[in-house]
Amino acid sequence: MKIIMLGAPGAGKGTQAKKIAEKYKIPHISTGDIFRANIKNGTELGKKAKTYMDQGLLVPDELVVDLVVDRVNQDDCKDGYVLDGFPRTIPQAEALDQALARLNQKVDYAINVEVPDENIVNRMSGRRACVGCGATYHIVFAPTQKEDVCDNCGGSLILRDDDKPETVQKRLGVYHEQTQPLIEYYTNAGILKEVDGTIDIEDVFREITNILGE
Ligand code: AP5
Ligand code: MG
Ligand code: ZN
Repeated sequence: MKIIMLGAPGAGKGTQAKKIAEKYKIPHISTGDIFRANIKNGTELGKKAKTYMDQGLLVPDELVVDLVVDRVNQDDCKDGYVLDGFPRTIPQAEALDQALARLNQKVDYAINVEVPDENIVNRMSGRRACVGCGATYHIVFAPTQKEDVCDNCGGSLILRDDDKPETVQKRLGVYHEQTQPLIEYYTNAGILKEVDGTIDIEDVFREITNILGE
């Protein structure tokens, strides 16, 4: 099962992708997480990506496409995967389709997690990310058991650099301009599925499992 998560920044793509990956036992591939790991490790890719990410801009397609195509060609992706944060532009979607076509494969579902802009800024200011393992929490909607300590690895929690309200606004603008056209792209491909991202995390997941099957 090959799944793409679509949605605005903060819609809950990462939250749901993690749950999908656990239930269906497929890898969760988040380009944002890959870039943040590269930034943390001080790689060349990380240095390049950071200059864009800090401004709320997209990293150029040429820095993203090969990375994802290589990743989905790895062995653990044989039975499928859930892509979170990729594709984000029409050229990225076309590059993915072409790479899959060469293997006689295609994407099965593009799940769009719908959340209006008004809800997003509030949501982001409450998000906390673990410095150790990258797990995501929310101070109100998905709190940790112990304040500011990761349930998963015991690491400490921080507000992501790009979650400041000004940067979130910028990311929303970039989303509408460059990523939203993918909704039409995948509607035309006949694989778009919409879920309501404003309801509780577990209820969103129920909508998704209704689509994907048990
Ligand atoms: P990325 O890391 O992908 O960020 P994003 O798309 O902006 O999305 P987020 O991770 O912020 O949100 P999310 O939808 O995953 O929401 P989450 O589940 O965390 O990308 C970061 C940057 O990297 C980009 O700006 C770009 O520069 C670069 N980049 C990455 N991929 C790229 C690509 N392909 N091309 C070019 N550049 C790329 O949820 C948000 C919060 O809400 C959490 O606190 C969560 O607990 C909470 N929450 C989730 N669901 C609910 C719910 N139903 N109710 C209440 N709260 C909820
Ligand atoms: Mg995310
Ligand atoms: Zn952690």
